[in-house]
Amino acid sequence: MYKTESYLNKLRESSMNTYPLINPHTREKIMDIPECSNDQMVAAIANSKRAFHKMKALSSEERSLILDKASDIIAQNKDDFAKTITLESGKPIRFSLGEVDRTVQTLKFASLEARKLEGESIRLDAATNGEGRDAYTIYQPIGVVGAITPFNFPLNLVTHKVGPALGVGNTIIVKPAEKTPLSAIKLAEVLTEAGLPKDAYQVITGDGPRLGKVLIDHSDVQKISFTGSPQVGKMIKSQAGLKKITLELGNNSALYIDKSVSHKLKEIAEKAVVGAFSYNGQVCISTQRIYVHEEVRKEFLHYFKEATESLTYGDPNDPATDLSGVIDEKSQNRILAWIEEAVAEGSELVTGGKKFENGISPTILVKVSPEAKISCNEVFGPVVLVNSVTSAEDALKEMNNSPYGLNAGAFTYDLPQAFKLAHELEVGQVLINDLPTLRFDHMPYGGLKSSGYGYEGIKYAMREMAHMKFISMNYSF
Ligand code: SIN
Repeated sequence: MYKTESYLNKLRESSMNTYPLINPHTREKIMDIPECSNDQMVAAIANSKRAFHKMKALSSEERSLILDKASDIIAQNKDDFAKTITLESGKPIRFSLGEVDRTVQTLKFASLEARKLEGESIRLDAATNGEGRDAYTIYQPIGVVGAITPFNFPLNLVTHKVGPALGVGNTIIVKPAEKTPLSAIKLAEVLTEAGLPKDAYQVITGDGPRLGKVLIDHSDVQKISFTGSPQVGKMIKSQAGLKKITLELGNNSALYIDKSVSHKLKEIAEKAVVGAFSYNGQVCISTQRIYVHEEVRKEFLHYFKEATESLTYGDPNDPATDLSGVIDEKSQNRILAWIEEAVAEGSELVTGGKKFENGISPTILVKVSPEAKISCNEVFGPVVLVNSVTSAEDALKEMNNSPYGLNAGAFTYDLPQAFKLAHELEVGQVLINDLPTLRFDHMPYGGLKSSGYGYEGIKYAMREMAHMKFISMNYSF
């Protein structure tokens, strides 16, 4: 059993204040968490800088073995980690177990890529006067990375930053979401056991904007990697100066269902329920907007409503539970207000739309205008709209009518149409015959428009956390 107390006690030694950590499902207090001071963050940066000397001295094999061992430890303690995720985030245990499985893989990919971080050779004789030289690039670590992580995947999205940072040979400080710091702290215990040099990974808990600013402003932090809202992302970009940054921001993910898949509507509806309502839709790539060809709309909606209404609300620790409380009361009220506003503006409620204990009943709306908040903003709640379209071209227009551009999906058996959608959708990732709510942990993952800046996905994140050095050897001198 991996505990958080000794790490928290160390933080408590220097922090005067605490804040209550709340169980989102019961809204009861779990424990007090240190509200770390700015000085603690500055001290962590100094420790991280010292640890960098040890990290960069490790071979890529040594770094790879540490990440591999960390992956194995988490796999061996799967239930323990899943319970912690459920406790702090309210995520139903089935999905928390899935998050742990993904984390195990994320670390395996980081272990693998740590050994493969290779540059390329460059033919300088392709340029006039370039002959007589051998040239190549190498990747080198950059130093201290600052990571600011969200509440919705408190283990795997932390690992998406930690794995690549350590794989490259950097050190990293994580400022986890205030609502979900425990998984990140447990990861510290795992990495220590796996042999990571002291202070190469640290967690500082407390207020995001305040502690985040210390990371952004500090000259010894070489890179900021942030996952969260576009508003905060834009602020980080404007404040980060010449620091490297990666921003993974929101989305209002769209899915098109074509008439060519009319024989598969039940299967698609059952998948779409998972895409729209897993973890209450509190996922950046949650299926939020469905555009369905008018010829198959009625049948799809029938299956989709039926599958949605069969979801069970309950204790997130129960393996049968699909839905539980949303992250906090403020989010619950905002989501309900957006639903009410859409209905007042002419959208029709097919099912849901009600407060249910500390959650919201899974909600389907139709005839939603593109200007409604539940269409053009990221809902981050159990709400999905189903609008009908007359063609794939019509769907493409609707799907691209968005300030976001992370993932999009389309179900179609029409091959030219699939190619056209893949080419024309204004997003970073297109998933044909899959939901937009799909991410494999080694794929490139980055958003256009307000959805982000730069890429995650282990191999790609590593290159964004490294310094590419060009070297030329003039052998004719
Ligand atoms: C996110 O919500 O930002 C990530 C989604 C995922 O990793 O599945």
